[in-house]
Amino acid sequence: MIKEIYFKTIDSTNAYLKRNYDRLDDFCFVSADEQSSGRGRQKRIWYSESGKNLLFSVLIKDKDLIDHFENLSIVSAYAILKVLEGYGIRDLGIKWPNDVYVGQKKICGILLESVSSAQIDCLIIGIGINVNQTVFPEAYLTEPVSMKGLLKKDISIQKLKKELFEELIACFERIRRKEDFYPRISSYDLLKGKTVTAEIDGRQEEVIVAGICPDYSLQVVCHNEKICLRSGEISFHSKEV
Ligand code: BTN
Repeated sequence: MIKEIYFKTIDSTNAYLKRNYDRLDDFCFVSADEQSSGRGRQKRIWYSESGKNLLFSVLIKDKDLIDHFENLSIVSAYAILKVLEGYGIRDLGIKWPNDVYVGQKKICGILLESVSSAQIDCLIIGIGINVNQTVFPEAYLTEPVSMKGLLKKDISIQKLKKELFEELIACFERIRRKEDFYPRISSYDLLKGKTVTAEIDGRQEEVIVAGICPDYSLQVVCHNEKICLRSGEISFHSKEV
């Protein structure tokens, strides 16, 4: 039985779980039609038209999964990608560390946050999927696209939500059983072979992306040297993926 808390409006589903994780169960999903302070990666704002998109977060307290936190966010992206493929969306890719793209356009963003005291108490995976919004008035870093924009029809958010929650729970279980998602994930590696401008340790560098590694770090070639980057160490500034 999937546990879900739904809000018509909330500040942020991630923030709600951060405030309340200690009284909530593992794998509790929190969804909302609208967020007044939706958050993205690198302290960006996550905009979404009210009721048009799927905005939710899931709470992870299981120690095995917390220990595999680097798998969790990219496997979540893979789970979402698979559900979107089931709707007939083609040209899907994962832009490391965990965005889901259709061609050069972003359809889904994931924000992984942790709450720590002496150790990590819980992880919160926040997911925003562009579903029925077709006009994106804000200045986005990368061009967004929605399911409706691609499929030219309204999508039932309730049905999609159920499918995604089930797929995510199934994938979390497969991570716990130590299943290796790497071969499938690397076949959707959007940055592989691309030259991108990246900020590495505070410096702007032009790098060639060798690809996602089996430990889900990203290998890049910078000044003829191969280096492996963790998601906290790199940000891409180019408009291109
Ligand atoms: C990104 O690509 O920058 C990550 C975006 C994550 C947005 C989702 S929407 C639901 C959850 N609540 C938030 O405040 N953010 C995440």
